[in-house]
Amino acid sequence: MGTPNDLAVGAALTKRRDGRLWPARLDFLQSASGLFLALFLWVHLFAEASILLGKDAMYRVTMFFEGYYFFGTPYPIIITLFSLFILSIVVVHAVLAVRKIPVSYRQYRVYRDHQKLMRHEDTSLWWIQVYTGFALFFLVSVHLYTMISQPGNIGPYASADRVVSEWMWPLYVLLLLTAVVHAAVGSYRVGVKWGWLPARDPVVGRRRLKWMMRGFIVFFLLLGFTSLGAYIKIGIEHRDQVGERYVPTWLQESPPQAGPTEAMP
Ligand code: HEM
Repeated sequence: MGTPNDLAVGAALTKRRDGRLWPARLDFLQSASGLFLALFLWVHLFAEASILLGKDAMYRVTMFFEGYYFFGTPYPIIITLFSLFILSIVVVHAVLAVRKIPVSYRQYRVYRDHQKLMRHEDTSLWWIQVYTGFALFFLVSVHLYTMISQPGNIGPYASADRVVSEWMWPLYVLLLLTAVVHAAVGSYRVGVKWGWLPARDPVVGRRRLKWMMRGFIVFFLLLGFTSLGAYIKIGIEHRDQVGERYVPTWLQESPPQAGPTEAMP
């Protein structure tokens, strides 16, 4: 048994060690939230790409996310709640990332001079993250606010109308570019930072991971821009009927109330 003095010293040491662990814990949380958001984005871009399989396919995906196949009726509130959850992860991730950004011109110069001197590609990648992350904070906020406030306005016509007639396409072009680059570069940096490399040799592992990063950027930009092109095409064709909701082909002959339509709450 230690004396009260020993116990006090022990407690103080534990507190000091815990204090030293916090930066590592916050770093881990930043990586984990970033990876989660990257995964979400990639799944999301696949879901959006359902429009490439036709309007009915995108309609089915929308109904799935609104819970129709579980509850027998669509609940757009699910989209609102899920969007709020994603927004909270974005905020946590951004707050944790802001700790690392130079806050004064002096700090900024030190970083920049270091980068020029070292010519280290990974330091340049870090700056890409700072710029794209900064832009994303504004771009994602606008998009998520739309999803939170108008969850019932998602579907082949509703989405295409938003993209074209509500002029969201310029925002989506910027959002797609910044989000895809940020997610791929961020995942590469997480792999390097925590040593999750696709090879035993770190040099080979890092090189492979960088190729994967480039591959993800090219693939998801192609997928995203092709889908965006499809929404734009539908939005232009539908310009004179803005507000009209898509009725799936299997319901087109029967009255609209016979099944779920985009217009349902
Ligand atoms: C749960 C939250 C989200 C929902 C429900 C959602 C839903 C949608 C929907 C329905 C569209 C199609 C266009 C439209 O209807 O306006 C879209 C497009 C898009 N979203 Fe999201 N989104 C969410 C979060 C995000 C986040 C966090 C990002 C980026 C980090 C993002 C990036 C994009 C991009 C880039 C497009 C354009 C699609 C493309 O180019 O293929 N979304 N989103």
